[in-house]
Amino acid sequence: MNMKKEKIILTGDRPTGKLHIGHYVGSLRRRVELQNSGLYDRIFVFEADGQALTDNIDNPSKVRSNVIEVALDYLAAGLDPEKTTLFIQSQIPELCELTFYFLDLVSVSRLQRNPTVKTEIRMRGFDESIPAGFLAYPVSQAADIAAFRATHVPAGEDQEPMLEQCREIVRRFNYIYGETLVEPEIMLPDNSACLRLPGTDGKAKMSKSLGNCIYLSDSADEVERKVKSMYTDPGHLRVSDPGRLEGNCVFTYLDAFCRAEHFGRYLPEYASLDELKAHYTRGGLGDMKVKKFLAAVMQEMLEPIRKRRAEFEKDIPSVYEILRKGCEQAREVAANTMADVRRAMKINYFDDTSLIDERAASGKED
Ligand code: TRP
Repeated sequence: MNMKKEKIILTGDRPTGKLHIGHYVGSLRRRVELQNSGLYDRIFVFEADGQALTDNIDNPSKVRSNVIEVALDYLAAGLDPEKTTLFIQSQIPELCELTFYFLDLVSVSRLQRNPTVKTEIRMRGFDESIPAGFLAYPVSQAADIAAFRATHVPAGEDQEPMLEQCREIVRRFNYIYGETLVEPEIMLPDNSACLRLPGTDGKAKMSKSLGNCIYLSDSADEVERKVKSMYTDPGHLRVSDPGRLEGNCVFTYLDAFCRAEHFGRYLPEYASLDELKAHYTRGGLGDMKVKKFLAAVMQEMLEPIRKRRAEFEKDIPSVYEILRKGCEQAREVAANTMADVRRAMKINYFDDTSLIDERAASGKED
């Protein structure tokens, strides 16, 4: 098998809400580029609904309704089911099976040290009643990755501890049972503004509960309104005042979204973002002018996404059909890996004739 040489991408999201522009610059846009680059043998993008349930077990309808929303966002952003296998975690029972064995390759104290999980536990106020499945979700995530023999996992920096744990588990598996699984590497976003896009209120992260998101599915009017009310520099009261760029999320968004050609189209009196920033810091450039420019840049990016989403929304059954087919294809791959895993772990009792024959022969000798 050429499992070493193939370049396989796998990545995914928890379906707990519609995707926003933070997802788009942080991961979605890159996935589409990777998909269209032709450099990868296989690309899997999946919805981690099982992982989403680890802290939503009493609210399954939230996960259920977002599975279709996220699928629409994927398709709208340009993921093409002909090139990328789109699937849903819970429909691949092999992932549970692999997780079950992986759980024995990691200690409870190792799980408790995962910094991303630690932060999430604090944020969710679990205190002493942390669901065991939540604490262990990095193990299930390791199984997601290993089951598809993914070599590359595009993800944000918050996923680095997950990838590290995955590599440790895979290494330990291969050490005990022989080279069977592949150690993946993370592919971080290349633009630092894309690592973690702040919310429109300037708070560190876009999140539904803070109401500071711009969704891929927002209408043109909503986008316009949200950009116009964005947080800038509270000290920039008059146009003539010098403005600050630090913490000014209008400029953070421009760092993430704006390209040189946008100036020619929407703000020809400046040649580059550096020039615009210089004028802002010097004083004499009003927030509204910058926001109008940002709104134009955003609309240009979001308009084709909105159009495609509307098209797919007209035929929801076909979107479920895309997912169903993707699950079928994904299952085939995971089942192949699981056959290798069972063989390596010596739990393939019925398809190993030498095992049966040997024991049968030794029985006769007695
Ligand atoms: N933990 C990821 C998130 O919260 C989702 C995820 C689950 C994932 N399994 C994965 C990402 C495997 C990459 C690879 O967004």
